[in-house]
Amino acid sequence: MNRTLLLILASFVFAGGIADALDNGLAKTPPMGWNSWNRFGCNVSEDLVRKAADAMVQTGMKDAGYQYIVIDDCWQVSRDGDGNIVPDPVRFHSGIKALADYVHSLGLKMGIYSDAGSNTCGGRLGSRGHEFQDARQYARWGIDYLKYDWCNTSTQDAPSSYATMRDALADSGRPIVFSICEWGNSRPWLWGAGAGNLWRTTTDIIDRWEGKGEKYGAGVMDIADMQVGIEQYAGPGHWNDPDMLEVGNGHLTDIESRSHFSLWAMLAAPLMAGNDLDHMTPEIRDILTNKEVIAVDQDSLGIEGRRVHHSSDGQDLWVKPLSGGRQAVLLLNRSARDQSITVKWSELGLAPGQSVAMRDIWAHKDLDATTGDFSTMVPSHGVAMIVMK
Ligand code: GLA
Repeated sequence: MNRTLLLILASFVFAGGIADALDNGLAKTPPMGWNSWNRFGCNVSEDLVRKAADAMVQTGMKDAGYQYIVIDDCWQVSRDGDGNIVPDPVRFHSGIKALADYVHSLGLKMGIYSDAGSNTCGGRLGSRGHEFQDARQYARWGIDYLKYDWCNTSTQDAPSSYATMRDALADSGRPIVFSICEWGNSRPWLWGAGAGNLWRTTTDIIDRWEGKGEKYGAGVMDIADMQVGIEQYAGPGHWNDPDMLEVGNGHLTDIESRSHFSLWAMLAAPLMAGNDLDHMTPEIRDILTNKEVIAVDQDSLGIEGRRVHHSSDGQDLWVKPLSGGRQAVLLLNRSARDQSITVKWSELGLAPGQSVAMRDIWAHKDLDATTGDFSTMVPSHGVAMIVMK
């Protein structure tokens, strides 16, 4: 049977609820945390990670729900004579266990990164052929989250490779969130729920409103566009992952950062901050800790929002059903000029004339109840985000 046919069959099976979703009891709402990659790349060290963990507590991010501190690529340097993976002895001189203990002492959880191939994307050693050994090592260190990349995988099959590490993590005896990172190449939304808790759906995000990166990567708007049509595959314990946040990394305006954060919340996306938590402006901190927006992301129904309107003049409308019969509505202005955007009751499945209570969750204020289509001015590249009931 050819691969496309297999994938189509798999999607039917999954849509019918027959395929087994991984049930490791984790990530019932989209994981929230911080990851070193977007801001620091390979420049990771235990000092950096400790500072990020401290800042997560001090800035109020922990209170807002952020939990995982994830070291991305380049922490590893070799394998010892027994094949055990060895962390960089200079940058992580106290060892990963001591670092995880420190992170745990703050009431946070520890994450790490590896790769299904021979080497990571940064050229360090990957886990191929050492999956069970690495998983046992992570468990001994007290790791709670593994991001597992897809570089240097040659002819490996993605579903099988991720299933091997899934089994290795299960065998380790420690609950470890499993983050699949194969960039959407083999449509992981069709098989990812059986293997992991979240799966990247695209190439890497870049710190830019829109456009493609020089070699790879895409801006916030481009990544958002790529989420359309795969919403149904997300749910409690298994999420589409449009990549880590670029909020606070310097190239998005505060208005654009608010839009990026709002969209990720509408998408029920993992909220992994990717900035320097230790040096944030108050505006960026306020964005990352907006509890009302986070509540949309973390809603217990776990339904990913959909785009219901996308017009050539840059008006997008996204809707996300929430618990308690509420819905979140995002009015996004992608154009270069401020403009008024209208939400039609028909687009929300409401009856004409139906009275709706509304709250603006960026302004943190209740609006007058409305009985018909709702319009508001939205700045260029900005959003209005409303919870309706
Ligand atoms: C890939 C991933 C990124 C990051 C880097 C690390 O590009 O998609 O998120 O982990 O590798 O090298």
